[in-house]
Amino acid sequence: MFISVIGCGYLGTVHAACMADLGHHVIGVDVDESKIKELSAGRPPFFEPGLPALLERAMASGRLRFTHDVAELARPGGGERTPWVHFVCVGTPQRKGEFAADTTYVDAAVSALLPHLAPGDLVVGKSTVPVGTAERLSARISDRVPGAMLAWNPEFLREGHAVTDTQRPDRIVYGIPAGPGAARKARDLLDAVYADAIAAGVPVIATDYPTSELVKSAANAFLSTKISFINAMAEVCEAAGADVTELATAIGHDERIGPKFLSAGLGFGGGCLPKDIRAFMARAGELGADQALTFLREVDAINMRRRSRMVELAREVLGGSFLGRKVAVLGAAFKPDSDDVRDSPALNVAAQIKLQGADVVVTDPAAVENARRTWPELQFASTVEEACERADAVLLLTEWQLYRDLDPHVLGTLVRGRTMLDGRNALDPAAWRAAGWTYRALGRPRV
Ligand code: UGA
Repeated sequence: MFISVIGCGYLGTVHAACMADLGHHVIGVDVDESKIKELSAGRPPFFEPGLPALLERAMASGRLRFTHDVAELARPGGGERTPWVHFVCVGTPQRKGEFAADTTYVDAAVSALLPHLAPGDLVVGKSTVPVGTAERLSARISDRVPGAMLAWNPEFLREGHAVTDTQRPDRIVYGIPAGPGAARKARDLLDAVYADAIAAGVPVIATDYPTSELVKSAANAFLSTKISFINAMAEVCEAAGADVTELATAIGHDERIGPKFLSAGLGFGGGCLPKDIRAFMARAGELGADQALTFLREVDAINMRRRSRMVELAREVLGGSFLGRKVAVLGAAFKPDSDDVRDSPALNVAAQIKLQGADVVVTDPAAVENARRTWPELQFASTVEEACERADAVLLLTEWQLYRDLDPHVLGTLVRGRTMLDGRNALDPAAWRAAGWTYRALGRPRV
C-alpha cells in the first residue's frame, strides 16, 4: 500500500513506523521542520518504549520517509494509479477558554491533502474529533475530488504502550461511507492496510461515521469514569479510615467490574482523557443531549480534587505550612514510560506547592526537559538522590518502576525528614514505615 501519515506526534509517528514495518510504503508529513529533521535521522522526538528500534528498522527498509512538505505527495501522472491511503493523525486540543475541541488542525490537514487526492484515494481520520466531523469532511472531499473517500478509524493506543497497541490493537473500528460502492472500496483498502492484524484475529467493527467517532469518545469517557469512581471511593475511604487499594482488589475480582483502571491516586492527566471528556460534554450540548453527560462534570471534578487533596496532605504532614520547607517530587510525566507532561497531575501538584512557598525540586527519568519548558519556575534534578537531598517530604507522583523499586533505608539517609507521600499507591506502606518513614497515601488509612 502507499500510505501518508499527516501529523507526526505520538500517534502519527508510531502509526507511520508500524505501517512501514508491515511492508507498506509510508511518507510521514508534519509542518514542524525540526521534528522532521529528527525523524529523518531515525530519532523519535519523544520518549516511547520500543519506538527507536522500530523506527530504525523501518527507515533501514527504505519504505519510510518524512517530509515537512505535503506537496511531496504529488505524484507523476499517467499510467494506472494505485490508490493512496492518507491517515490524518493531527491533534485536537481543547479550545482556549472553552470545553470544546479545536479541530483546526484536522481541517488544515484535509485542506492540505485535497490538491493531491485522486479518485479512489482514501482519507482516514484517526484524530479524536467531535461527532459529526467525518460527515462534514467527507462532503468537502467528495465536492472537490469526486471518487475520493473518507473513513474514520479511531485510535485507542496508550502512550508507553503505543507500539504494541498499534501492532496488535484489541479492536479495529472503521466508520465508512454510506453508499454501497464507496463503503466496499473504503473497507477493502482498510482491510489491506490492517491485513496482518486481521489475520491474527483482531476484531473489526465496521460502522457509520457518527458511531465510529462516538466509540472513541465513549471509550475515553468510560475509562475516565472508572478512574474517578475509584478516586471517589478513595475520598470515602479517607473519611472512614478504610483502604481503597484493598477495596479495589476486592471489587476487581468481580468479572463484571474487572481490576484494570482501578488504581486510585492522583487521577488522570495527559493530552487525551481530560480534554476528551470536556469536548464530549461540549458536543453533547450542541446536539441537545447535554443532560446525558452531566455526570462527566463530576468525573472531572473528582479528578481535579485529588490534586488539591495531595497538596493539602503535603501541607498537613509538614505541620501546616510550606514556608522554608524542601519538597522533593518524584515524577513529572502524566504517567510512567512517557515524557509527556500535558496536563500532568504531578506538575500541577508541584506548581501549587511551589506557589505556596516551598522549595520544590522535581525529577523524572524522561520528562525533565519537557517539564522545564512548561514550568520554568520549578527546580529540576536529574536524579532521585539530587532531588531528595535534605528534603522535608518526598512526594511520589508518577509511578515509574524506578521509584517503585526505591529502598526506603537508602533514601532515608539522604532526606531531612522521613516523610513519604505516595500519590499513586505504588509503594508498600509496611516496608516504608518499618524503615522509619511516615507514609501517607491517598485513600489509605494513616496509622
Ligand atoms: C488514553 C486511553 O487509555 C487510550 O485508549 C486512548 O487511545 C488515549 O487516551 C487517546 O485518547 O489517545 P493515555 O492518555 O496514553 O491513553 O493514558 P492512560 O493509560 O489511559 O492513562 C491516563 C491517565 O490516567 C494517566 O494520568 C494515568 O496515571 C491515569 N490512571 C490510569 C489512573 O490514575 N488510574 C488508573 O487506574 C489508570
